[in-house]
Amino acid sequence: MLRALLLALSQACWAQRLVKRWKFGWQMAARFVAGETLEEALRVTAELNRGGLNVTLDHLGEHTTTVQEAQQATEAILTLLDALAAHPLRANVSIKLTQIGLALEEDLCRQHLRRILERAQQCRTFVRIDMEDSPYVEPTLHLYEQMRASGFEQVGVVMQAYLYRAESDTRALLEKGARIRLVKGAYREPPHLAYPHKADVDANFDRLAEQMLEAAQKAGAPPLSEDGRIPPLPAFGTHDERRIARICAYARRLALPNEALEFQMLYGIRRDLQERLAREGYPVRVYVPYGTHWYPYFMRRLAERPANLWFFLSHLLRG
Ligand code: FDA
Repeated sequence: MLRALLLALSQACWAQRLVKRWKFGWQMAARFVAGETLEEALRVTAELNRGGLNVTLDHLGEHTTTVQEAQQATEAILTLLDALAAHPLRANVSIKLTQIGLALEEDLCRQHLRRILERAQQCRTFVRIDMEDSPYVEPTLHLYEQMRASGFEQVGVVMQAYLYRAESDTRALLEKGARIRLVKGAYREPPHLAYPHKADVDANFDRLAEQMLEAAQKAGAPPLSEDGRIPPLPAFGTHDERRIARICAYARRLALPNEALEFQMLYGIRRDLQERLAREGYPVRVYVPYGTHWYPYFMRRLAERPANLWFFLSHLLRG
């Protein structure tokens, strides 16, 4: 109920204006967002790298409503790729297709995505295409497959365990050697498309994680890339210790070394767990968002954990 309300508010322009105008809104969001500028994001990335954690950077933005906005977002991602090529950081890039025009026109988005992947190829950086709400799942997978078919290898996609379709999508993608990040799913979806109960989402996450580990075992461990960067591994984007413990146990049963899989977590959430897993020899990647369009991302983080909301509201009431 509360989750549904917060997810609805994440798309409400009036609520966005209200929260963004209010000083404490940014102070609260800053727990989850590295900063509003690229420089701040690079500083946070360097600090995480020093602590043994890898990074994926997300220039915040989604659902752009004009061609100009989509072009600007594409330019910002190209600038990010150039910055990563110029700095010795262990970081790659995550993008959202509605940020670069998918909600406007598929063809426009395709052109932008191609430019981004060409630049990423030149910079030898991996790009992960985040998965958004259900109207964009099919077009996202379609564009992803098109890019793979036209020769781009350094690109991966995300599967959301709450979707019923995730099981068959994951199987089909694994057969084609796709690089997948598995997550539970962060959007408000109707019960005819997504499991409404958390226990079912968790169970599906476990099943899909097993599929991914079995595929990794079949493929053999990927070698380190020539520049020493960690290659894209089967990635599990969760802070759920039970899910993580099951993944570790199943990987051990399959005799997969710890370096053959990657855990990914969001900036500002469970740093203790990130560091523990890194100490145990698992590659850990922190998803670091930055930029001025932090509102919908921030609201999804509130929706995931009511305790965050109470903290937020208590400050609101105190003025
Ligand atoms: P769950 O929600 O069960 O939380 C487990 C525990 O984690 C909680 O008990 C709490 O301790 C901690 N926790 C989780 N969320 C928290 C929060 N907001 N604040 C504080 N603590 C919190 N989704 C999507 O639809 N498309 C995508 O592309 C991505 N990409 C993505 C990348 C990465 C690296 C991660 C980690 C997550 C995503 N997600 C996503 C979000 C994902 O779908 C999901 O909403 C969140 O990860 C929360 O789910 P958990 O798996 O952590 O489990």
